[in-house]
This record gives sequence, C-alpha cells and structure tokens, in this order.
Amino acid sequence: MNKKSIIQYDHAPASKAGFFTLQTEHTTYQFMADRYGNLLHLYYGRKAAGRMDYLLTCADHGFSMNQYDAGADRTYSMDAQPLEFPAMGNGDFRSPMLVLCNEDGSYSSDFRYEGHEIQDGKYSLPGLPAVYAEDEEAKSLIVRLRDSVTGVRADLLYGVLPGCDIITRAVRIVNDGKGTIRIRKIQSAGFDLIAGDYDLLSFYGRHAMERNVQRQRIGHGTSGFCSRRGTSSHEYNPLMIIAESETTERSGGAYAMSFVYSGSFRAEAEKDQYGMTRVQIGLSDEAFSYPVERGAVFHAPEVILSYSGEGLAKLSQQLHRCMRTHLCRGKYRDLPRPVVLNSWEALFMDFDGGKIVELAREGAALGMDLLVLDDGWFGERNDDSCALGDWTVNEAKLGFSLGELIRRVHELGMRFGIWIEPEGVSENSKLYRSHPDYALRIPGRNPVRGRNQLLLDFSRQEVADLIFDSICAVLDQGPVDYIKWDMNRCLSDLYSPGAEDQGRVAHDYMLGVYRFLERLLERYPDLLLEGCSGGGGRFDAGMLYYAPQIWCSDNTDAIDRIRIQYGTSFGYPVSTFGAHVSAVPNQLTNRVTPLKTRGIVAMTGGFGYELDPAELSAEQREEIREQIRNYHQYEALIRTGDYYRLTDPFRARAAAWCYVDDRKSEVLLQGVFLETHANESPVFIRLMGLDPAGEYLDPVSNQVYSGAALMECGIPFTQKEGEYEAFECYFKALCSS
Ligand code: GLA
Repeated sequence: MNKKSIIQYDHAPASKAGFFTLQTEHTTYQFMADRYGNLLHLYYGRKAAGRMDYLLTCADHGFSMNQYDAGADRTYSMDAQPLEFPAMGNGDFRSPMLVLCNEDGSYSSDFRYEGHEIQDGKYSLPGLPAVYAEDEEAKSLIVRLRDSVTGVRADLLYGVLPGCDIITRAVRIVNDGKGTIRIRKIQSAGFDLIAGDYDLLSFYGRHAMERNVQRQRIGHGTSGFCSRRGTSSHEYNPLMIIAESETTERSGGAYAMSFVYSGSFRAEAEKDQYGMTRVQIGLSDEAFSYPVERGAVFHAPEVILSYSGEGLAKLSQQLHRCMRTHLCRGKYRDLPRPVVLNSWEALFMDFDGGKIVELAREGAALGMDLLVLDDGWFGERNDDSCALGDWTVNEAKLGFSLGELIRRVHELGMRFGIWIEPEGVSENSKLYRSHPDYALRIPGRNPVRGRNQLLLDFSRQEVADLIFDSICAVLDQGPVDYIKWDMNRCLSDLYSPGAEDQGRVAHDYMLGVYRFLERLLERYPDLLLEGCSGGGGRFDAGMLYYAPQIWCSDNTDAIDRIRIQYGTSFGYPVSTFGAHVSAVPNQLTNRVTPLKTRGIVAMTGGFGYELDPAELSAEQREEIREQIRNYHQYEALIRTGDYYRLTDPFRARAAAWCYVDDRKSEVLLQGVFLETHANESPVFIRLMGLDPAGEYLDPVSNQVYSGAALMECGIPFTQKEGEYEAFECYFKALCSS
C-alpha cells in the first residue's frame, strides 16, 4: 500500500472543510472538519475512494437545535449530524463521549478543529497499555480540537496499522485553561453510523462461566453494557461487536471495538431519532470525576477498532493478529508456550515441598515443561481467610527454602512458576496489622469483603512499592520462569486518603497496577506472565500488553470450557487462553468427560494440566504422553494459524473449530459432540479458510478431499463412543491453485 495514502488530509477551500481519510488494506475510515470546525464522522467500512460528505443531509428538524454560528440556518444541527467526538453541551442530545465540568462549574463544551499532525509509526500512551508497531508498519494522526471559551484542548489520536486492518483511537485532554477542570465522562472511541440496521454482540457471563455470546438488535434508546467492578469483569467483557443484521461467520459487515483497559468501562449503542447508530466505548463514568489541573494532561485508554466486510471470522482474525503481534510483548510473544502443570486443582493448599517436587517429577515423566506452585506457599496461608499480603515463603510448610524447591524442580527438567496476588490483603495478615491504612476502606464504614479479603490501595505509590519489594525478595530466591498474577475480588470502598477527588481512585488504582506490571517485567524480562482474576475476570486487551496469556476461567469442565473459549475467541487470540486438562468428575460441574476430549479442548490455547498424574492409571498416563506429543505437533499451527469457529456450541449438536496456516496448506479440525441420541445421523462439519481450488489429504485415512467440497458440504463425523466424544482431523494441501 502506498504509505502516503494511509492517512490523507484533503482541504476543500471552497467549503472551508477538511477531510481525513484513513486507509487499511481492506477498510476506509473518513471524517471531516466542516466549515464551522465541527468534526463529522462520514464513513467506516469496506475500502472506498472519494469524499463521503454526500451522505450528509440537512433538514429543518423540530427540536433539533442550531449552533449559533449557523445564524438563521435552521437545517444545521449537531443533534442531526454524524459526529466523530460528541461532547456535551453543543446542541447534540445523544449520549456524549465527553462530559467536562469546567472551572466555572458549567458542563458545556464546544470543541472545534484547530489543527492536526500526521506521524510515522504508532503513538504510545504514557502509563497505559497500547498497540505498538514499527515505524514502517503504522501511521498516526493527531487531530487537535479546542474549546475557545475555556482554552481546553482535546486531542484525538488515531493509529493506523494498514496490514492488520486495524485503527486505534485514544483521547488526550490538555488543560490549557485557567483552572482545574473535572472529566466526568470520557469515551475513547465512538462514531455515528449514518444508515443501516445493526446488531450488538456482547460477551456476558459470571464467575466460572465467562463470555457467553448475546446478539441483540440495536433499537432506539441505549443498548449497552458496562463493568462497575473496578476490573473488566467476568460479567461483561470490554469488547463490543456491531454487525449488520445479516452478518454471519462467513459473510457480511461487522465492526469490533476492543477497549485496551482492565478496569471499569462502559459500552453503548444507540439508534437515534433519525436512524443513525451511535456506538462508543471507554472508561466507566459512574462515580467518575477526574480532576485535571491547569497545565496537566489526561490520557484516556486506547480502543482497537476493526472492520470486516467478510463476516465475523475475519473480524476476529484481524483482532487476533493485532493482539498477538502488536499488543502482547516479551520473550514468549512468538515462542511456543511451555506445557504447564499447575498445583491448584491437584493439591489446592494442602502440600509441602516434597509433594510439589513429586508433582514435578510426575509431570516431567509425562513430557510437561513447567511446574506452577499455586496459592498457599506464603505466610500462614492454608486457606483463603488469611495471609494475603505476607509475601514471605512459608519454609516450615515447604520443608525447605524456595531456592531449594526451584533447584529440585529445575533438576527434573521442569521450569518453575509461582502464583501471586499482589493487589489483595487479608485482614488476618501481618501486613494488614501493621498497615491497616494501606487497604481500600472508607473511613467510618465497614468494608465489603470478597473471598474474605480486601484490596490494597494501588493508587498510592508507597503501597505498591512495599508489595513490589516483598515480591521481588521472593523472586530473587531462585530463577522463577513464570508468574500467575491473580486478583480475586472486585473493587469496592473506593477511598484514598491523598486523593483530592475520590472519583479518580478507581482509574488511579488501574494505573498503579499497570505501573507495577511494567516494573516487574523490566526487572525480570524473561518472565512468562499469566494473568488471572478468579479465572477470566480480567481477560482484556489491557492485560495482554503485560501477560501474553490469561487463565481463561476457573471452570475446567471441557464442555463448559468449549463455550467459554468460543465466546473468548471473538475478541482474543487462542494463544492467549490459559487452558488445562483437569481430573473428573470436574470439581465445579461434577461432569465426567473423556480424557481425549479434555485434551482437545485444552489444546485451544496455552496448554497444560491441573491434576495429580500419580492418581491416574498407567493407561491414562500414556494417553497424556500422547496428548502432549500431539500438542507439540500442532502447536505452531494453533498459535499462529487463522482460527475459525465452525459451529455455535450454544446451539449445535457438535462444537467444531479449525486452524488454517497463512498458506492454506495445513488445517487442523477439532470438535466435540455435545449431545448423545439413539440412531443418530453424522454431523457434517463445514470447514472454512481453505483454498477452494486446492486438494487436501488426510494422511491418516489417505483420502483426498476437494477444498471447495470441504467448505461447501463439510465432512461427516459419526458418534461412536458416546457422550462428549471428541474428533480431530488434520489435512495437508496437495497442491494449491
Ligand atoms: C483463583 C484462581 C485459581 C487459583 C486460586 C488460588 O481462584 O483463578 O486458578 O489460583 O485463585 O487461590
């Protein structure tokens, strides 16, 4: 693509307007500064050329009021225009992206175009996670808007990654005014779709059943979802997909908006009185009041935008590629992930050093790579009522030092990982007894407890520093290869003694967590970090900047996991899913599934085990050895291939998905029967992403298939072994067109 055309500005002197056109390989995004300097959104969709201001229509609409500049022209109304960054108070009465409380206490803003810059490379955001790119891979546009009355500036930041079909957006508020202002609402990305009917796809859930898929028509009034939990949450994921009503996995137009942030958020979609659809996502505005002093700057976190004109599968793949290669960082970004053996479901907190070494020995014998010592190794921690915050190794429980444990695990050929929960504190802990003021609490009130614990006030540097030092003192006791960073409750009791406005604390807490993560990775650059929040309570693009994998859910039941991973795959690459085989009956659902099925489901992601191999039969242990060999064979294809959802496991008789490499020469199809019936016919699984003109060999049966036939008619699978049977098929292209 011609580099010049990635971001283009055309000035039209006759109309006093300027057009901004952002181009990726397959999409175009256009907005304009009109004759009054108002920013109007014109187009986001399939690649298109030319100016799209012909889409603007003007009429004298009753009760849609007129900007003063328009004089006697009653057809010019902000209320009836498609806007790029609607702020409260200028005559637009739809949901605003920005609400500022000015120095004089008023809430009106009027931001007009002042200027812009185009830069090579991708902008970054201080203290916040953000997409990154080499200078040759991206361009950035910064559009400066100003409210001439208050002097406050709003900079709209756009990053364009043409090869990924990704556009990022963020906002920077620069207080060039005379006194302190307060941000009451700020959304990082939004636009008004001028015409069309759309559906809203959201990803809702609960602890241990995250990211179910809901698709609903966007009607009049506000549809949307949010988290007010201080984390991105199990309940609603900060990913919004807006799809044309006809869009399916295989065809149709759809937009994704993924918020690169791990705290409270709001996502809204609203069809207005004239049939335009406003969509926006950003920080939660509930109890939000962020003071920005004169001369200070506030950065609103980033949103990743993508559009696909070829269905939802393509849209997800665009997000996957961007997150895998432009958001995840560190040594493990492009490396095969170790096969993990985690002590949690094997031993819970009932262990000593000897049992952990035995677990590692068993794991090593089966071909696993890394032993994770989960919760229970520090302070007096033998249940979840105490000791959180006391980051000193319980050597009496282990029977020896952590250094010795790591040495013994390494000696077995296993790498070593450890669980931490830096943000939590138990009231029954040495830390809390010596620093009760370090916990988030409102003076005079009893705090709300979650899993028996409180949270530390990470908005305060001295609090985070104390934890950082005590955790580093543990990590320095031996070479630790992996950390599982957990967080087991929501934020409540938001009050920080030093904060001049308590409405800033939730966001400052999140900034404190990001600062901590960044420092940790700077100090231990080779560490593989796995995120976790009671499973998938903080599975978001923000965390992926620090942790290239996240424990997808505390639910390891293979059948529930299929649905959780299906929902998660709409927004996030499978290489980031922590997924383990656990024992049956499953500890949460009591369901019994075959070991083969559990293996195939856990292979969708950062693969591992969460059981005690010593409790398995020789036959099952041999099956695990075989599973791990199988995983290594397909690992690169799973991690880097295009992932396709072939059926909807909330509706279909069988769940199925496949991975296809970028040359369309290798295909791995996997699936699981979800139901059992007598005298049943086979399921026909239609593949996706193959070369229709190609021929594909199944090396096991030696049968050759046409790529087109595999995609049009599918391939039949018959259930032979009963409930929850898994199937797998690998194809290799014989020739390509
Ligand atoms: C959370 C995690 C689990 C485990 C426990 C330990 O629930 O999601 O995987 O680490 O904490 O307490």
